[in-house]
Amino acid sequence: MGKKSREIIGDRVDELIMLLNRAYADEWIAYFYYTHAARMAQGLNAPSVADALEKAAKDELEHINELAERIVQLGGEPIRDFTKLVPESNCPYVKLPGSWSDLKAILKAVIDAERCAIDVYSNILKWLKDIGKDPVTWHVIRHIMSEEIEHEDMFETILGEDY
Ligand SMILES: [Fe+2]
Ligand SMILES: [Fe+2]
Repeated sequence: MGKKSREIIGDRVDELIMLLNRAYADEWIAYFYYTHAARMAQGLNAPSVADALEKAAKDELEHINELAERIVQLGGEPIRDFTKLVPESNCPYVKLPGSWSDLKAILKAVIDAERCAIDVYSNILKWLKDIGKDPVTWHVIRHIMSEEIEHEDMFETILGEDY
């Protein structure tokens, strides 16, 4: 699959597939923790925090699909072994608090995760810029990164304090 795409990118295509797979693992991990936190959040402002977490989780699920689609187009395979998601990820853990009523701590953990994701996509864009041959992946990653920036901003706004 993706013979022409692979040819265009050249001998670094497998390195790119690895970078995309590491981001793919990050997205599954974010989706897992955000969905869990949305269900568990407690307290007066829990509904608005849960809504934001669900919105972000829905976007992360789209990112999973967008990354998987591009990996397959490039002739690769998205990580098939669930146990590999954590060791292959860049951002392996969302440090959720012990208490589900500590909404600020939940938000800070999620903001940290979004910042980790922004760094990951920024680094992939730098890598792609160096290669200078893959506008299709560039478009996908730029789109995902813009949504991670929206997520960071959304959670910062809800937190409502400097963090
Ligand atoms: Fe994402
Ligand atoms: Fe995100």
